[in-house]
Amino acid sequence: MKQGQRLVVVGGGSTYTIGMIMSLIEEKAHFPLRSITFYDTDGERQERVAKATEIIFREHYPELELFEYTTDKEYAFRDKDFFFVQIRTGGLEMREKDEQIPLRHGVVGQETCGPGGMSYGMRSIGDMIDLVADIRQGSPGGWILNYTNPAAIVAEALKRAYPNDKKILNICDMPAAIMVSYAKILGKEIWDLVPEYFGLNHFGWFTGIYDKEGNELTEDIKRAILEDGFIPEDSEIANDPSWIKTFKQVEKMLTDFPEYLPNTYLQYYLYPSDMAEKEDVENTRARQVINGRQQRVFSMCDQIIADDSLENVHLEVDIHGCYMIRVAASLAYNNGDIFIVMVKNDGIIANLPDDAMVEVPAMLTNRGPKPFAVGHIPRFYKGMIEGQLAYEQLVVDAYFENSYEKALQALTLNRTVVDAPVARQILDDLINENENYWPALKQRETVAR
Ligand code: G6P
Ligand code: MN
Repeated sequence: MKQGQRLVVVGGGSTYTIGMIMSLIEEKAHFPLRSITFYDTDGERQERVAKATEIIFREHYPELELFEYTTDKEYAFRDKDFFFVQIRTGGLEMREKDEQIPLRHGVVGQETCGPGGMSYGMRSIGDMIDLVADIRQGSPGGWILNYTNPAAIVAEALKRAYPNDKKILNICDMPAAIMVSYAKILGKEIWDLVPEYFGLNHFGWFTGIYDKEGNELTEDIKRAILEDGFIPEDSEIANDPSWIKTFKQVEKMLTDFPEYLPNTYLQYYLYPSDMAEKEDVENTRARQVINGRQQRVFSMCDQIIADDSLENVHLEVDIHGCYMIRVAASLAYNNGDIFIVMVKNDGIIANLPDDAMVEVPAMLTNRGPKPFAVGHIPRFYKGMIEGQLAYEQLVVDAYFENSYEKALQALTLNRTVVDAPVARQILDDLINENENYWPALKQRETVAR
């Protein structure tokens, strides 16, 4: 019998939590739990999710010894084995601002890419650093699995703040969500596929897909995408028009750059003008999520609570939850399964700097991720990645050094911006809107006066 884990969901009120709960039930044989604790700073929002969760567990997880929810972090973080972290500093309201401000300057407005990502990053870093410190007070040896965005920037900042902490793992579900669609094309399960992949978070390429027997399936996938297109298959995004549009772009990217299979997020960097033009500033993704997923999740919770049962709702597991749980299981029970995660480069990609936080496949053991060597990557990808990496590292520099100049350099380097005057206008607008969240950025004293 496996020893059950004590899990904390940080950000219990997230719109992803119910999906995560369904996944924990589905995966209980792989990742058995003793207790689950929800923690959130917004007690009311969390309570709606938690009350529904209680009913779900009563019907589907009677063997769970304890489920509780709290806004008391000291209590929540004491003596736990795993922390699933999904926080959003500033909420969806600030996400909407992040998306609208660049768009008003004709630049991509996106949660994690371009100026929106920088804006969100500068908000997330401080909270994440504090959160890890709080977790380490109560649980020095607990695994912290972090999904908090923008993951590339958060990972870079945590690496600098906690260079010796070997139990923080930053993960993103996008490669897995893409692999769900590959699996569907091939008539297989995602868990049957072994990926080869390199890049940064939301900035990477699949160089090969294999089955467990070692047969290469990459060309079959490419051919299918070029012939029949590409659609999201994971339940959470399959029927979402915005995600359908995003997956469709993979076909276009593959037509232009047929060497490797691109992460969907590359659309913002490869076609920035087109992406900015197509957006409606009054109805960006944040607005769609507020009116869509958020409403759906909370009215579902209310329905479960009113019925005191799950009978009138339809709940499905999604890859976001399952991936995180299988990652956790591999760490907890030393399974040695392979997942795409963020790790410090240290020679994995031979021609990128050692200190880069890269996204690559790794075998997950109870001693942490054991990544596989990627070797040298071709010039195009190296060039693309180096620009993006410099942008990410400059954002983190700007945060730690309170530097306006570094922030301006970062935005100017970003492929979605490029023009320095535009970068400056966007930066000034972002500083204004984020005054309650960002550290104060100082301008350098100019020499000539
Ligand atoms: C994917 C990415 C996440 C991102 C999410 C946004 O799952 O990996 O990093 O937060 O998409 O999805 P949404 O539906 O909120 O736009
Ligand atoms: Mn992601």
